[in-house]
Amino acid sequence: MKTVRFQTPGAIIAGNGCFSEVSKQIIELGKIKSILIVTSPSIVRQGFATDLLNSMTKVGIASKVISGVMREPTVQHIEELHEQLDGQVFDVFIGLGGGSVLDVTKLLAVLSTGKQMLADIIGIDRITSRGVPTILIPTTSGTGSEVTPNAIVTVPEEQLKIGVVSQHLYAAMVFVDPELTLSLPPAITAATGMDAFTHALESFISNKANPISDMFALESIRLLSKGMVEAYHNGQSLQARESMLYGSVYGGMALACSGTAAVHALAYPLGGRFNVTHGVANAMLLPHVMAFQLAAIAPRLDLAANAMGLSDKDGAEQVLQCIINWTAQLHIPQNLRDFGVTPDDIGELAIRASQVTRLLNNNPKALSITDMESIYRKLL
Ligand SMILES: NC(=O)c1ccc[n+]([C@@H]2O[C@H](COP(=O)([O-])OP(=O)(O)OC[C@H]3O[C@@H](n4cnc5c(N)ncnc54)[C@H](O)[C@@H]3O)[C@@H](O)[C@H]2O)c1
Ligand SMILES: [Fe+2]
Repeated sequence: MKTVRFQTPGAIIAGNGCFSEVSKQIIELGKIKSILIVTSPSIVRQGFATDLLNSMTKVGIASKVISGVMREPTVQHIEELHEQLDGQVFDVFIGLGGGSVLDVTKLLAVLSTGKQMLADIIGIDRITSRGVPTILIPTTSGTGSEVTPNAIVTVPEEQLKIGVVSQHLYAAMVFVDPELTLSLPPAITAATGMDAFTHALESFISNKANPISDMFALESIRLLSKGMVEAYHNGQSLQARESMLYGSVYGGMALACSGTAAVHALAYPLGGRFNVTHGVANAMLLPHVMAFQLAAIAPRLDLAANAMGLSDKDGAEQVLQCIINWTAQLHIPQNLRDFGVTPDDIGELAIRASQVTRLLNNNPKALSITDMESIYRKLL
C-alpha cells in the first residue's frame, strides 16, 4: 500500500440541535470579535441565518450576512461576492448551507486575505497560505464539502466545473446537525443524496482506495442506502435525515482520502455547459459508468452490496439494479434531452470530460473519448 494521508477539520461537533451551540463554541475559541455569515436565500427563508445572527449578537460578536449565494456558483459570481466584502475584515467566516455555500465560504476566506485572486487558485495545490478560519455548517446531505479540501467552481468559458483543491481549504470547525436538513424539499434530498452516494461508491472503487477511505466509504454506503428512499418520501423522519447527513459526512471523508472518479469527471461538463444539477448528473451517470467497468470492480461492488443489505449472490449486479431503482423512486430525470443536450453535443461533452484528468486518473478502467461518448449516448 502506498502512503496515505487522511486529514479532516479541526473539530467536528455533531448531534441533533448542535446548531444552537455555535455561538458558545465560538466564544470558547477566544478573541473572536467579528464574523461573516455566508448563506443562500432558501436558508434565510428557513430562519436559520437569523437564528445564527441573533445568537452572535447575544454574545457580543458583530456579524455581517451575505445571503445571495447562487446554486453551483460560477467564477464571476464568486468574484462579485468577494467585491461585496469591500475589503472588510472578519475573524471567522461561517458557511451555512448546501455545498454551493460551503464552497463559496472556503474560497472567500482565502480571497479575503488579498494575497491571491480566484483565477490564481483554481486547480490543485495553488493556494499558498491559509485564509481566514472557517466554520462550515451543512444543510444538505450532501456534498461532504464541510470535511473536504475542495471547492468546485463552474467555469462557463471552459464548459466545465473545476476543482480548487488545497489543504488550506480545510475548515477549522464543522457542525453536523441533522435537524437543519428536515426542510430539504424531496427533489433536493434526492439529488444531494445521490451525490453523497456517488462520493462513497467512487471513493470505494477508486485506484486510490485505501483502508482509511474504505472504512468511511462503506459506512457511508450503509447509512445512505438505509436513509435514501425514506428521506425522500418522509422528509420529517429525523432518523432518515440522520442516516443521510452522517452518510454524507463520511462520504466526504472518503473522497478527501481517496478521490472520486469517472462519474464526477463526466458530470462536470453536464454542469458546466447544460446546468444539470451536480447530484442529478451523477445519479444519471452512475449506473452506466459502473456497468462499463463491471468486471474490474465486481469484487468491490460485492462488498458494497453487503453494506447495502443486498444479497451476496451477484452482488455487483444487485448494486447496479438498486441504483437504477432509486433513480426511478426518487424521480431523477433519465434523459439528457430534458436538459437540452442533443446527439451533436456528445463529442464536445466527451472532450471536456477527458480534461478532468484529476478524477479520471482515479478510475479503475481507463476511458477513451469513444467510451465516454457511448456512456453519454446511453442517456439520450
Ligand atoms: N467541495 C466539495 O467537496 C464538493 C463535493 C461535491 C459537490 N460539490 C459542489 O457543491 C455544489 C452543490 O451543493 P449541494 O448539492 O449541497 O446543493 P446546493 O448547495 O446548490 O443547494 C441546492 C438548493 O438547496 C437549497 N437548500 C440547501 N439546504 C436547504 C435546506 N436545509 N432546506 C431548504 N433548502 C435548502 C439551497 O439554497 C439551494 O437552492 C455543486 O457546485 C457541486 O459541484 C462540492
Ligand atoms: Fe459530488
